[in-house]
Amino acid sequence: MISPWEVEGIIDYDKLIKEFGMKPFSELIDKVPNPNHLMRRGVIFGHRDYDRIVDAMVKGKPWAVMSGFMPSGLPHFGHKMTMDEIVWHQKMGGKAFVCIADIEAHFVRDVGWGKARELGFLYIRSIVSLGLNPENAVIYFQSASDHVKNLALELSNEVNWSELRAIYGFSSETTIARLLIPAIQASDILHPQLKDFNGPKPVVVPVGADQDPHLRLARDLANRMNIFSFEKIDGGVRVRSRKGREYLKALKDLNFECRVYGEHIDLFGDREEIENAVREKELEMGGYAFIPPSSTYHKFTTGLKGGKMSSSKPESYISLFEDPDEGAKKVMMALTGGRATAEEQRRYGGNPDNCVIFELYSYHFVQDDRELCEIRDSCRGGSLLCGRCKRILAERVREFLRDFQERVKSVDLDDFYIIK
Ligand code: TRP
Ligand code: SF4
Repeated sequence: MISPWEVEGIIDYDKLIKEFGMKPFSELIDKVPNPNHLMRRGVIFGHRDYDRIVDAMVKGKPWAVMSGFMPSGLPHFGHKMTMDEIVWHQKMGGKAFVCIADIEAHFVRDVGWGKARELGFLYIRSIVSLGLNPENAVIYFQSASDHVKNLALELSNEVNWSELRAIYGFSSETTIARLLIPAIQASDILHPQLKDFNGPKPVVVPVGADQDPHLRLARDLANRMNIFSFEKIDGGVRVRSRKGREYLKALKDLNFECRVYGEHIDLFGDREEIENAVREKELEMGGYAFIPPSSTYHKFTTGLKGGKMSSSKPESYISLFEDPDEGAKKVMMALTGGRATAEEQRRYGGNPDNCVIFELYSYHFVQDDRELCEIRDSCRGGSLLCGRCKRILAERVREFLRDFQERVKSVDLDDFYIIK
């Protein structure tokens, strides 16, 4: 079962791609300039419309990256992955939007507003310590963003209850506040395209697969809010209008060969040029002209004792604010893919593909692919035993936590644009 609020069991990512209709990331990785280690290692396994981001990246057109954090517990390595992804995309030229989902924490997880605020700032300090650049970033608390709240209300006018029930399994007992959460998250995702943030642009949302229902809803809503919608045809684009056919008339004055029908108009020429011109027209008419948001999906972070990582089980994760010695100790206690005895492991080798320690190396602690291959090979070959493998990692974790927490202390948030 996968929904935004519960993930259980071991996940078959290929099946997930098929069932949800995502695209495998491997299909597109060759087009990405300088793919990061998560992309190269298949940790980012799926996407929607990431081609649009690659295109903007390569052509130097404006685009953005946005994701959110629910401040219901301390930030841990699962969150670090998303933070690293935001920072990487920002370095590649995207404007970064960082959401602190305090409304969601309050209404879904019952976190008090004061606590959500306090935790929220730990997330902000964390992503800043991980390299977020103040030059091209907007950080906001959901509860403080009028843009997000107002757009959420507009979006909620396009969704009805039975639709939400089908996507999220809501029942008649579900509170109105909770019903609003998907609209608020869709608003998080779409609001970087509002006029006040320089209008329509490709936006990529890096998330875990459990967030995909929110993305599908946001993509749907983008289309429903727009005056015009597009469909590919031979040599051009067919444009329809959900808001009424009178709107189509204005498209006749655009500089494209056109054919007018009752319910649509066909424009001929370069597709991108046509779509841009129609969007421009829509903005003049007061429409949103949203571009459907793109997304990437990363694998779930395994809990230190196997199973899922959960903020309600402190032994299942290492928080970024954990005492460094405690963090190292947790590494030593973690579940590995090792054999029952050293003797057996020397003979048959370990299983790095089912090992929390290897996962930590791969996701966070080894940037160099060759070094990672060496660890994997010597594990499989039986020359590396779990004791040593864990001790090396424990040392790196201790170092990282020390260093990170030192940097967190000296972070200067005054340089940042924070809607708080
Ligand atoms: N729902 C997300 C979570 O549980 C947090 C979140 C809020 C988010 N708004 C978002 C994620 C927008 C991505 C994009 O972690
Ligand atoms: Fe995991 Fe390292 Fe043991 Fe291999 S040697 S199973 S990678 S802990």
